[in-house]
Amino acid sequence: MALMAAIGALPGERLSDYLVLGELALDGTITAVAGVLPAAIGANAMGRGLICPAATGPEAAWASRELDILAPRSLIAIANHFKGTQMLTRPEPALMREPPLLADLADIRGQEVAKRALEIAAAGGHNLLMVGPPGAGKSMLASRLPSILPPLTPRELLEVSMVTSIGGELSGGKLTDRRPFRAPHHSASMAALVGGGLRVKPGEVSLAHHGVLFLDELPEFQPQVLDSLRQPLETGEAVIARANHRVSYPARFQMIAAMNPCRCGMAGEPGHVCARGARCVSDYQGRLSGPFLDRIDLRIEVPAVTAADLIAPGRGETSAVVGARVAAARALQAERYEALSLRDVGSNARCPTNLMEEIAAPDASGRALLAEAAHSLKLSARGYHRVLKVARTIADLDAAARVGRMHLAEALSYRAVGERLQAAA
Ligand SMILES: Nc1ncnc2c1ncn2[C@@H]1O[C@H](COP(=O)(O)OP(=O)(O)O)[C@@H](O)[C@H]1O
Ligand SMILES: [Mg+2]
Repeated sequence: MALMAAIGALPGERLSDYLVLGELALDGTITAVAGVLPAAIGANAMGRGLICPAATGPEAAWASRELDILAPRSLIAIANHFKGTQMLTRPEPALMREPPLLADLADIRGQEVAKRALEIAAAGGHNLLMVGPPGAGKSMLASRLPSILPPLTPRELLEVSMVTSIGGELSGGKLTDRRPFRAPHHSASMAALVGGGLRVKPGEVSLAHHGVLFLDELPEFQPQVLDSLRQPLETGEAVIARANHRVSYPARFQMIAAMNPCRCGMAGEPGHVCARGARCVSDYQGRLSGPFLDRIDLRIEVPAVTAADLIAPGRGETSAVVGARVAAARALQAERYEALSLRDVGSNARCPTNLMEEIAAPDASGRALLAEAAHSLKLSARGYHRVLKVARTIADLDAAARVGRMHLAEALSYRAVGERLQAAA
């Protein structure tokens, strides 16, 4: 375009008001590029207009109502616009009208414990690990999580869309208020998961920002790849270091993981003895490191679904019913953290540990139970705080101001499986 301005085909003085983005094809059309939304927000902050590929116009329009946007299909179109022979109209911000239907929780038979844990995870933003034999419905349960999560707030929507835009994954420039759900395969590399590559693209952890990262068959992931998740899990940010610069993308995701109890998948089933003996379990579970497991608040066993559950008539609660309880608990948390001027916290899972002691403040009998359990389960300091956080979420689902013994007892029950796993690790 600078060249066209130099030969007089475009008015140079008018072009200087714009930031220009796009990829020129050999036939003069302009091909879509990634990252248009953040660029549009940048152009707006600089007080400039934006020229971007036609396909990305609807995405750019989200930056601001005032932003001057030209989204031409080709170089000719932009030349005609400046000549005044064929004016380009401003693109409209586009929302995905009817995103594909989500699978419903009501499809799942039995598994009441697992459904309850899923509801708690959704309500407090907690990480969840499900351990059980193949076919128990673990993948099915995980895929239902988005259906009970509240929609993205406008602020979250913009953050999520910016990352998606940089990742080049905003289809048709349309945004959606649905929380992301990412399920990378266990063969995924570290770069694919936390980000990297030649042009430092955001990884799955960032594409799952404000949403769900589902890791199915957890021990099948490379141990180094899993350990690289520890930092984003802790800080909510993925930092990619390069020889001479660092890039960081937001990564405040909720992790749901699923695994078989052993390599053959059947350990613990009544009457089953693994062909490889006890090592079938210990070798498999030993692939997960203790510090990694420690970052998972809820750990549950999902036994094989019984025939009685499968043939029982009637459907369970729908996602809409469960989602309403989750939304109410989330509203309580938003109110709490806003009152403490901690807008960035948003959920119990993200609450700083020192603060959780005050917020959860169990009553006397709750404290007694916790002291006993800390001793008998040999809870680590981190484990202790995680129990408090989960108990706070259970109390929020109950709309209870204080954390009671019942809430703590339930929270503790979601740690027992993990302690066994951690002993193996
Ligand atoms: N609790 C359940 N209720 C209804 N169908 C189930 C249940 N558990 C498993 N299934 C059926 O079995 C299939 C396999 O379940 P899946 O979620 O893939 O199990 P897993 O991930 O634990 O191996 C599902 O697609 C579903 O048809
Ligand atoms: Mg599965």
